[in-house]
Amino acid sequence: MTDPEPSWPLWVDLPLRRTHADGRPRTPPLGRQILIVFGPPGSGKGSHCPRVSALLGIPHLSTGDMLRAAVAAGTETGLKAKEAMQAGALVTDDLVVAVVVDRLAEPDCENGCVLDGFPRTTAQATALDDALARVNGQKVTKVIALECPDAALAKRVGGRWVHAESGRSYHVDFKKPKSLRDGAVATPETMRDDETGEALLKRADDTEEALATRLSAYHAQSAPVLAHYHTTGCVARVDGDQTQERVWEAIEDALAA
Ligand code: AP5
Repeated sequence: MTDPEPSWPLWVDLPLRRTHADGRPRTPPLGRQILIVFGPPGSGKGSHCPRVSALLGIPHLSTGDMLRAAVAAGTETGLKAKEAMQAGALVTDDLVVAVVVDRLAEPDCENGCVLDGFPRTTAQATALDDALARVNGQKVTKVIALECPDAALAKRVGGRWVHAESGRSYHVDFKKPKSLRDGAVATPETMRDDETGEALLKRADDTEEALATRLSAYHAQSAPVLAHYHTTGCVARVDGDQTQERVWEAIEDALAA
């Protein structure tokens, strides 16, 4: 009897390779998986994390999505985060650490999770390590680092449209929704979510000014997180400056290594 097909959201539409190039079957890793998908704004974290989550059967925790939901709901966390997010700056470590540590304790994270956008400072990495160590000495199992030059990121972020409720992300050139006909101008009327048909939005922080702030926060505050995990040997660097299909293949290889 063959395994049933894995299920993942319909919009995660890249093919899954079930074997290595030499024909050996790919097997998912065992034990609680705390996987970090790391990279600058626009490097492809949000595009690839849902698929990693579906492949490994563990939830995708995006701190950006969690914070945007808190802002939209007007919660205390959202009110504290709103201004920094809109300007492209990082929200405070204590705020985001509390959100993630609470979420990690929920039952659906029993077998692990895919962290997207966290940790983003060495203080957050240390807080995560400490929280995991308190649960039977657990550790971060892998860091997938998506690498992409700043020049490519501006084009990606500038052309991005998102479906607010699900976080699904589209691009006017690189990942068009079905609703955008050839030659049509991107507007909320022509940019609709493939699944629900609802209007897509531009993110408030996808402006040139906010992107400059996000990139400088990434280089100054987030890049050192890689050095933090480098010593543990769990960092896999992936070239994020290629087609989404090629990036996905490289991520699959990194997961199976
Ligand atoms: P967050 O939502 O995490 O934003 P980000 O890190 O800036 O990342 P993005 O969502 O912009 O990019 P992505 O890597 O997911 O790219 P995507 O796949 O969408 O955080 C937002 C804010 O929240 C932060 O600025 C901060 O204020 C706050 N925050 C969040 N976490 C925090 C933390 N831990 N601490 C403090 N503050 C925190 O791709 C982008 C576009 O490119 C899409 O249109 C996509 O279709 C396209 N694309 C993707 N891959 C390719 C490819 N290979 N080729 C061509 N196009 C591609």
